[in-house]
Amino acid sequence: MKLGKYEINKIYNEDSYKAIKNIPDKSIDCIYTDVPYLYQKGGASSTLLGQRMVKMRETLSDISDGFDYIIMDDFIRVMKKINIFIWCSKAQILDIMNYFSKFNVNYEILVWCKENPVPKNNSWLSDIEYCLFFREKCFPLNEGYYLKSKYYVSPLNKSDKDLFNHPTIKPLELVKRHLLHATKPNDIVADFFLGSGTTCVGAMETGRNYIGFEIDKSYFQIAQDRLNGLTQQDRKIKDNGQIDIFDFIK
Ligand SMILES: C[S@@+](CC[C@H](N)C(=O)[O-])C[C@H]1O[C@@H](n2cnc3c(N)ncnc32)[C@H](O)[C@@H]1O
Repeated sequence: MKLGKYEINKIYNEDSYKAIKNIPDKSIDCIYTDVPYLYQKGGASSTLLGQRMVKMRETLSDISDGFDYIIMDDFIRVMKKINIFIWCSKAQILDIMNYFSKFNVNYEILVWCKENPVPKNNSWLSDIEYCLFFREKCFPLNEGYYLKSKYYVSPLNKSDKDLFNHPTIKPLELVKRHLLHATKPNDIVADFFLGSGTTCVGAMETGRNYIGFEIDKSYFQIAQDRLNGLTQQDRKIKDNGQIDIFDFIK
């Protein structure tokens, strides 16, 4: 099946601001996306902890400078009905809520509570990540007690970070819960800020169709590998021409 010039169940190494223009009106059942975060700037002390924060900001600076809200008009255009999950930073919540206030939607603020956040001096812990959900009124959600929870508790997903090498990777289990609650089998789920591809893997594993876009070549390759069942350790082995355990099993 095609979506304009794109095929579904594929991902593309493209700039979403341009790519989305090629997606037909009212063709997507759900957008599930994790926008580049906008961090509130602040000084960092010279303590070990302060320096750790500086290092973390440097790691994220390539992928995190906020996003241009202009793409939201296209988000609305391509969805059949408004049905959208947007992971964002605290600093973006107000603007995104304001944007959606003009539509006839219900909303929720869903959270991922992290059990072991990095300690911080003189401020609250960064132990919550926010996912805003907007859905057209009178558009029922699927049943399932555990799918309806607005919070999810887990440790920082360091193991996924190691396997898929993306600094803001989200828990696959949570993404799947969200999709099972708000979409139906064979629906088309789109992610315009793909990162390591968690949305598309979640869609694939729950029997949904997907399409995704990632601007960064190396993250795109990670997502592509992940959809093909390869971790970054497998990639290293392949690239070094060593015997691949998967080839062995095949
Ligand atoms: C917050 S991360 C997504 C992480 C993802 N949820 C995961 O679990 O791995 C946002 C991603 O958007 C990508 N990005 C930023 N600007 C983009 C653009 N114009 N088009 C497509 N992707 C973009 C960044 O490279 C980054 O990988």
